[in-house]
Amino acid sequence: MKLKPWVKITLFLFIIIIIFISIKPLFKKDNNINNNKSIYEEYHIPISKQSKTLDYVLNNNIYDEKYLDEYQDINYKEEDYFKDILLSFLPLGYKGKEINYIMSLSSLNRNKLKNKEYIDLSNYYNIKNFNVDNYDRYEEYFKNNNYEYKDVVTYVNLNLDLPVYTNTEEAIDANNNLVLVNKYNSLPADYKPSDLETVKGYYGDQVPMRKETKEAFLNLQKAVKEEKGIELMATTAFRTQARQNALYTDYVAKHGKEKADTFSARPGYSEHQTGLAIDLKNPIRPSGERLNDDDYDWLKNNAHRFGFIVRYKKEKEFITGYDEEDWHIRYVGINEATIIYQENLCLEEYIDLYVKQY
Ligand code: DAL
Ligand code: ZN
Repeated sequence: MKLKPWVKITLFLFIIIIIFISIKPLFKKDNNINNNKSIYEEYHIPISKQSKTLDYVLNNNIYDEKYLDEYQDINYKEEDYFKDILLSFLPLGYKGKEINYIMSLSSLNRNKLKNKEYIDLSNYYNIKNFNVDNYDRYEEYFKNNNYEYKDVVTYVNLNLDLPVYTNTEEAIDANNNLVLVNKYNSLPADYKPSDLETVKGYYGDQVPMRKETKEAFLNLQKAVKEEKGIELMATTAFRTQARQNALYTDYVAKHGKEKADTFSARPGYSEHQTGLAIDLKNPIRPSGERLNDDDYDWLKNNAHRFGFIVRYKKEKEFITGYDEEDWHIRYVGINEATIIYQENLCLEEYIDLYVKQY
């Protein structure tokens, strides 16, 4: 088809206009930067160094030639603390990338860092549970173990670099569904949940546990019956500290302290005292066996649907400090249990990564 000359010219012009419109933004400069052109000249700053952070320091009269390269790496933040960050951390010797990481930390961490000499943060970028107070321990633990920094941070936060049953802390909120009770975290001696109810237990007795735990457990029992045709019954759930004491003393007498510590909590350190933990047994399994592999497989992959986690798993023994217990479940709530299940965490890891604020 032959086009008339005027059509060709119009088309040509049209295409030129379209191209112009589409590439124009590429040449457009930030308003701020244009305004600073004369300042750039005054300070002999090459135009290639321009950035929002550089503009900010120029406009706020805190420009220091020494940090020209760092300004380029620092992500501008429209926050009141931005000026303070620049004025505090550049003189301490932090590089631009470290300052970006510092800005991602809590104000508590930032203030602690501000009052310390420079520490190398380059191995910690993207680690959100970093705690400045533990820095020296992180470095030491990294040297002595074969873990990545992100795991080092979690493990040290959990005190795995310290001997068990030392430096222990008593729970502040024992009634919280997420209360952590382990070899580093205890419960008050007289703690007893105020909402204990009971379910019919394997031994024909009434097994006490907290109300929400009971409701969730009844749902789990119903589901396992429907889906697998089996019963999972409670042998024990809530235990007083006195009862735990009797059990532990007995185990120590029978097996010695070292062995007892691999499977029994010392009094004050058992999560059975929370009323959120339940020991299970499938009644058709022989005595001496609680669950078989098939039962455990269902439990491992379904307990979270009802808000429970399998608390002492094989691959987490080095964190929990206990040999695997396929029968011990712990109520935490459905959302929490689902994350713990999907991300293959244990409760200690979940709390450090998702609950604790540093
Ligand atoms: N068997 C668990 C660890 C307890 O004694 O609480
Ligand atoms: Zn148990």
